[in-house]
Amino acid sequence: MSVEGSSADLEAARKRSKAVWDDMAAGWHDVSRDELWECSRPISEWMVRKLDPKPGETVLELAAGSGETGFLAAKLVGETGRLISTDFAAGMVAAARERAAEMTITNAEFRVLDAERMDLETNRVDGILCRWGYMLMVDPSAAFAETRRVLRPGGRLVFSSFAAADRNPWVSLLIRILVSQGHLPPPDPEAPGIFALADPNRVHKLVTAAGFAELEIEEVAWRWRYGSRDAYWRFMTEAAGAISPILRALPADAQTAVRNQLHEAVQPFHAGDGYDFPALCLNVVAQ
Ligand SMILES: C[S@@+](CC[C@H](N)C(=O)[O-])C[C@H]1O[C@@H](n2cnc3c(N)ncnc32)[C@H](O)[C@@H]1O
Repeated sequence: MSVEGSSADLEAARKRSKAVWDDMAAGWHDVSRDELWECSRPISEWMVRKLDPKPGETVLELAAGSGETGFLAAKLVGETGRLISTDFAAGMVAAARERAAEMTITNAEFRVLDAERMDLETNRVDGILCRWGYMLMVDPSAAFAETRRVLRPGGRLVFSSFAAADRNPWVSLLIRILVSQGHLPPPDPEAPGIFALADPNRVHKLVTAAGFAELEIEEVAWRWRYGSRDAYWRFMTEAAGAISPILRALPADAQTAVRNQLHEAVQPFHAGDGYDFPALCLNVVAQ
């Protein structure tokens, strides 16, 4: 299951999520340009290596954020090929367009597109990338079915989501603190959120139900490094999706209490002036 309730409830959940990510766009653009992209690049390189796009092909990136993963593919499809870089948050699409200009990417187009209902023709693209997107979608079954529809027969989907909470202390320690202080209800493992696709069995079920026959699921480890304590806190308050508005809405004393407790909890990962966290993703290739 995804979000429970009527179609009006689903629609309201989508609207809330879109507003959150529009609000995150500036923060995501800044962190992606700096520390996050350098650390997380191995995930994107893995994805693009597995997609293996050829010159002249069309690659679609879903939930692209500021677009860097797709830009790796844009270089490989060359001037005769095309990248369609998309996100449902207009602010993110604007960030990706700006980033492409900085990186002189000239074979990409940018669209606001909801992955759960894509305004794209059937069999339109040769390959699809989605890094850290499906796990957040209100109805992942709809998103995978739409993905299958717009992907040509034989085309490949490559995506990444986060593996289990205990393998991603950079965020799970904060979630635990927010729950323990009553600022967040205990997370439902299948509700949209960072760990919604952490279970490989659930991933397998969702992806095969959408009509993909062959599936490869691999755990890919990386390190999430923050140069300073402030950079870590800034990420959490300005770019961490649904968590950031919760932190920002706390009264100053409650926010300080969370920050102090978090500081204690992440001591084992202290490195230099900042932090060096292990992180683990579940990366998937489907065909
Ligand atoms: C964690 S960010 C990841 C951004 C980028 N893929 C990256 O790896 O840096 C999640 C992104 O998913 C987008 N998103 C969430 N639900 C979506 C949906 N239904 N359709 C399209 N984009 C969606 C958000 O707007 C946000 O940009």
